[in-house]
Amino acid sequence: MGYKEVYAAAKADPEGFWMQAAEAIDWVEKPSRALFEGDGPVPEWFVDGKVNTCWNAVDRHVAAGRGAQVALIHDSPVTGVTHKITYDELRNRVASLAGALRAKGVEKGDRVIIYMPMVPEAIEAMLACARLGAIHSVVFGGFAAHELAVRVDDARPKCIIAASCGIEPGRVVHYKPLLDAALEQSRHQPEFCVIFQREQEVAHLEDGRDVSWYGFQYGVEPAECVPVEGNHPAYILYTSGTTGAPKGVVRPTAGHLVALNWTMKNVYGMDPGDVFWAASDVGWVVGHSYICYAPLIHGNTTIVFEGKPVGTPDAGTFWRVIRDHRVRAFFTAPTAFRAIKREDPKGELVKDYDLSSLETLFLAGERADPDTVRWAERVLGVPVIDHWWQTETGYAIAANPVGIEMLPVKVGSPSVPMPGWDVQVLDEGGHPVGPNTLGAIAIKLPLPPGTLPTLWNAEERFRKSYLDHFPGYYETGDAGYIDDEGYLYIMARTDDVINVAGHRLSTGAMEEVLANHPDVAECAVIGVEDELKGQLPMGFLCLNAGVTRDHGEVVRECVALVREQIGPVAAFKLAVAVDRLPKTRSGKILRRTMQSIANGQEFKPPATIDDPAILEEIATALAGIGYPRASAPAE
Ligand code: COA
Ligand code: AMP
Repeated sequence: MGYKEVYAAAKADPEGFWMQAAEAIDWVEKPSRALFEGDGPVPEWFVDGKVNTCWNAVDRHVAAGRGAQVALIHDSPVTGVTHKITYDELRNRVASLAGALRAKGVEKGDRVIIYMPMVPEAIEAMLACARLGAIHSVVFGGFAAHELAVRVDDARPKCIIAASCGIEPGRVVHYKPLLDAALEQSRHQPEFCVIFQREQEVAHLEDGRDVSWYGFQYGVEPAECVPVEGNHPAYILYTSGTTGAPKGVVRPTAGHLVALNWTMKNVYGMDPGDVFWAASDVGWVVGHSYICYAPLIHGNTTIVFEGKPVGTPDAGTFWRVIRDHRVRAFFTAPTAFRAIKREDPKGELVKDYDLSSLETLFLAGERADPDTVRWAERVLGVPVIDHWWQTETGYAIAANPVGIEMLPVKVGSPSVPMPGWDVQVLDEGGHPVGPNTLGAIAIKLPLPPGTLPTLWNAEERFRKSYLDHFPGYYETGDAGYIDDEGYLYIMARTDDVINVAGHRLSTGAMEEVLANHPDVAECAVIGVEDELKGQLPMGFLCLNAGVTRDHGEVVRECVALVREQIGPVAAFKLAVAVDRLPKTRSGKILRRTMQSIANGQEFKPPATIDDPAILEEIATALAGIGYPRASAPAE
């Protein structure tokens, strides 16, 4: 069957389609059916099945006689280490870790926060939680202690698993001191912390609270897999919303297993045994789905890469990894390719490596700009597949399903909706619009398996953020259009979320931090275009009357404050002091208008603007920091 037939089959008979996909999973008790309407805010999948994620990702491959296959390769140019772990070894390591967690009281339903860099132990910690039915929540290492504390207070973990340190080019990231600082700020305290000591920096262990990764495994019984209900939360992953409070996206166990396994063959064209590499981080959804779970569930070899596209040691690192490990499909964010292209514009370094194993490059996480896509196609000589998804969905909403049928690529489009996804473009009133008309992108309910059933501790927020605006639909927060041939184009966010180097960030969260500076009366943060990172945050600060000291000094303090409160990943380095912010007569800050000025784009001030003269002041302030950039691309 081709794409059209598969899509139509899933639409005509979702029950039959997903029950068949569920056959590829090992169940302790098979579900009686696929979709359950239930009392929750949205229908749920495979609710009455019993299953264990770790069994499906690890043990079943050992049981099937594939224990000697490499499950995971840690390739770490920042430490000079390459380490391969077979499915057999992975099973033993995970069972032992799970046994030690269980011995200290971790049970099904308990939350465990994982705060680790790109080491295999991060994946093992996730799998050990899954083995016990504990709900993990991985926190990205680029966040500051405060962000970690916010997640600790929301998830209320029994245990936190962290590494002593991470390694960024040129500096050591002090994970353990950051964890200690977070626990000083958080109201909730875990019962214990497990610390994985790395040789690059050994951390102090707090007596009575912290145990060492290896030490606490001494003498424990390895744990077997604990069956859980189909809708048991597999994990919580916090992501940026409109405000400073992150949204805890809940991932349901069974739908996650079924859907991710299905994507490995149908979207990515992988067969068990193939090497699949997603160069992302375990702290993001791409890392959850395509470094950890999907490749392992499907019996592939996955790569845990601890390095950067450039500088570790050069712009040929990606090609070296693909060659060394015979990678068949590679997945990364466009920003990584822009970084490589900037260092090696002609792609000369590609010629030094035998990349004959590579069949497809997949891009996601942000808009794939046509320049980057064409460059990647030219230097690698393989199809470049853009695909669109979100933390909330856990896998692609739209893609070019190379395992079913490679459709013609249209550069600038993540191609077509995947089976199970009824993607529609709506006008403000919630009515579907015709082809080539811009609108809000929404998914007709029910969402397919594996997608979020709610937000952790925040069902009302879930309804408000995703369901209320367009009844009967899930609102994606993205705007775009569908062309005559059913190809989707993602153009912008409809909320205050920005995308910086493939990282999803909230301008609202940055504004909350800036507003806390004693000299700031009012502020606004927008996303401006950036050639490397796609977007960068930029702050406009109105200082209190009577602030007589150097405004530049206040701006520098504000930049430092965002780094300290949110973390280096916010990449907040651009800010200016202004006298006033442009607003509508009703007091709404005109962020989009400011964005157009900063990007050097044509714009028409809204008719409701209070005082158009302020726009001149904004333009002057921006000129002072070199905006708009001379080379800013036109929209
Ligand atoms: N732990 C601690 N700090 C981190 C971190 C981590 N895991 N990841 C990033 N940071 C820090 C960086 O060191 C940097 O700090 P600095 O301000 O002191 O330089 C800051 O956060 C910003 O990081 P980033 O935006 O990643 O910029 P960069 O200049 O370090 O690297 C790229 C630029 C393009 C090479 C890099 O962003 C990249 O590889 N992007 C791929 C994106 C990706 O994988 N996205 C996941 C979704 S698919
Ligand atoms: P995250 O939840 O961090 O994965 O970010 C999801 C958001 O990133 C989406 O809502 C989009 O705004 C953006 N995004 C992800 N993939 C793409 C893509 N292929 N094209 C355009 N935008 C994308």
